[in-house]
Amino acid sequence: MSAHGPAAPLTATPSGPLSGEAHVPGDKSISHRALILGAMAVGETRVTGLLEGQDVLDTAAAMRAFGATVEKRGDTWSIHGMGAGGFLEPQDVIDCGNSGTGVRLIMGAAATHDFAVTYTGDASLRSRPMARVTDPLTLFGARAHGRSGGRLPMTVVGAADPVPVSYATPVASAQIKSAVLLAGLNAPGETVVIEREATRDHSERMLAGFGAAVETRKTEEGRRITLVGQPELRPQTLAVPRDPSSAAFPVCAALIVPGSDVLVPNIGLNPTRAGLFETLREMGADLRYEDEREEGGEPAADLRARFSPDMKGVEVPPDRAASMIDEYPILSVVAANATGTTSMRGVSELRVKESDRIDAMATGLRACGVTVRDGDDWWEVDGLGPGAVPGGATVATHLDHRIAMSFLICGMAARRGVTIDDVGAIATSFPVFRDLMEGLGATFQAG
Ligand code: S3P
Repeated sequence: MSAHGPAAPLTATPSGPLSGEAHVPGDKSISHRALILGAMAVGETRVTGLLEGQDVLDTAAAMRAFGATVEKRGDTWSIHGMGAGGFLEPQDVIDCGNSGTGVRLIMGAAATHDFAVTYTGDASLRSRPMARVTDPLTLFGARAHGRSGGRLPMTVVGAADPVPVSYATPVASAQIKSAVLLAGLNAPGETVVIEREATRDHSERMLAGFGAAVETRKTEEGRRITLVGQPELRPQTLAVPRDPSSAAFPVCAALIVPGSDVLVPNIGLNPTRAGLFETLREMGADLRYEDEREEGGEPAADLRARFSPDMKGVEVPPDRAASMIDEYPILSVVAANATGTTSMRGVSELRVKESDRIDAMATGLRACGVTVRDGDDWWEVDGLGPGAVPGGATVATHLDHRIAMSFLICGMAARRGVTIDDVGAIATSFPVFRDLMEGLGATFQAG
């Protein structure tokens, strides 16, 4: 079963050259935050370019359950918020579907309110660790009661008299950082998060945009982010930039399908998100940034990707992991089509994403004829060279959108194509993926 119906297998057949423009949807991380911060501001926030993937729609439904009005009028999403500390007690369980970002950020935002909330999600989300977020939330005075292993369903009893918190995140995670900052919005005084490695900084940028006093300083311990609690958040008009993690799929497809030349316009290149593109260029990819500019205070460019038969395997430095954490699955597909070995280290977080992404990719790539070695926090892919992946396998996607899309791209450049067991999860982050790829020249067959 997929998240929303019976499993729907899909086959990617070997593709002719890809060409044209790929207009990818809005950024998933920024879309979640636009809805949550909009619900915590007083008045109407208007958002264009919102990702209308299931993950974000689930967060919109959750914000309604907490009392916000969330509607779409024409191309604009309108959120009427209640102010920081103004959430109402939901009347039912909050179901965040497939989304770790959704549930963890919402848990944070609600944890400093004086009521209990029960959270759940699909089979993937119910298997993922939540203690990493509820541990710091208990420091504010909240209490969490979940299943064994800190898993959903879980009830978080919010703090009646929250106290501000200073917390050093034990793993590099923007979700943990953001949950603590959102909880800090309704605590008096200064909430501090310290992260050893920089993770995506959308929460900090957007909190400042909504009028909160938030400051980041580089210290010996890492980045120290200080938020002054109980601000009056001002509603905003936001244009969500396009998602670099979605752009990764047409870009990588163009690099490995012979004869391709694809333009992916207007992609945000925030350094906390752009690690994949840096890695691809180190591998020798013909990937150019055209018309580099600033959009809404963030660096952006049009990405131009052409077939790159001379790519070489590389060692991806562990300190780059946070800036490309969602892109290792598609990188491993490019690596299989490069010459030499690509090694990826310091990536234990991949084991607790929508699926165990090292295991899902290693198993599927091996079934396609690629040699992969893996350990707890590392994996290596031996490249076979351009167009040399045999393919011909049916791979399991484990309710994981990025595994599903990565193997469809793999099939486009493999000798015998690749079948995925279920296309359903793709709708969580990239509902127009199939149309967009077919528009570039890909061919997919149901079953
Ligand atoms: C996200 C952070 C990342 C990423 C996820 C989105 C976010 O998770 O994998 O897809 O929007 O904050 P971690 O911060 O837990 O690594």
